Formats: sequence, structure tokens, C-alpha cells
Amino acid sequence: MKNVFSFVLFLAFIVAMYGFAFSNVPAADPAGKKIFVDSKCASCHSVTSQSIESKKKDKIVDLSNVGGKLKVDFIKSYLLKKEKIEGKAHPATFKGDETALTDLATWLATLKQK
Ligand code: HEC
Repeated sequence: MKNVFSFVLFLAFIVAMYGFAFSNVPAADPAGKKIFVDSKCASCHSVTSQSIESKKKDKIVDLSNVGGKLKVDFIKSYLLKKEKIEGKAHPATFKGDETALTDLATWLATLKQK
């Protein structure tokens, strides 16, 4: 009887650990990060704080602190070339839909370094 009880307890523990592991997946990899990678932003940008390294070696713009400089709405407009930074539009226009753009900009705005 004691053994059955321990076994049930053991099973409950395994199930709990599974739930824990899966509930952590979105937190570990936010939607915006995946969109960033899938949209090939990393061909020109690194985000070293998030272990994203551009393959390009020169003139890469690191976005590790972009959230410390720019707000979500500005990033969205900038990526659609409706806004400029120091008189210059972004070289690439974002091709995804509005939801993807919001996820992407929201994630970028969280990137801050001290
Ligand atoms: C063809 C190369 C290229 C691609 C592709 C590209 N970027 Fe950029 N991006 C740049 C350059 C160059 C700058 C700097 C422009 C300047 O300073 O005038 C920049 C600037 C930025 C900035 C502002 C950074 C700052 O600190 O001012 C953000 C945000 C940004 N890019 C996001 C993205 C995102 C998101 C993607 C993918 C959808 C992307 N970029 C794709 C070249 C690129």
C-alpha cells in the first residue's frame, strides 16, 4: 500500500515537471525573437545579449540596447519606413503582417542594457 502511494506521488511529480518545462518555453523564446530570426534581421543585426550573432562582419548594428533608445510605436513605424533616424530611413522594410510587426517591436523594446 505504501508503495502504491509513493508511485502515485512519483507520477504526480513527473507530470508537474513536464508542465513546468512546457510553460517555460514561451518565456525562454518570445514570439518577437523568432520573427526577428525568421525575417533575416540577423543578416545585418546582432543582438549579442540574446546570443544572436550576425554572420556579416562589418557594419553590423547591435540591437542589444535598442529598447533603451526606441519605443514600440517608433520601431514599428521605422521598420515600415514611415519614420527616420537622423534623417535616414531603415534599409529594409518589414514584410510580415501587423501582428508580427507588433510582436517584433514589442520584443525589441524589451532589449535594454545597463
Ligand atoms: C540590409 C541590412 C538590414 C536588414 C536586413 C535589417 N536592418 Fe535594421 N538596420 C540596418 C542599418 C544599416 C541600421 C542603422 C541605420 C542608421 O543608423 O541610419 C539599422 C537600424 C535598425 C534599428 C534602429 C537601431 C538603432 O539603434 O537606432 C532597428 C530597431 C532595426 N534596424 C531593426 C531591424 C529589424 C527588426 C530587422 C528585420 C525585420 C532589420 N532591422 C533588418 C540594416 C538592416
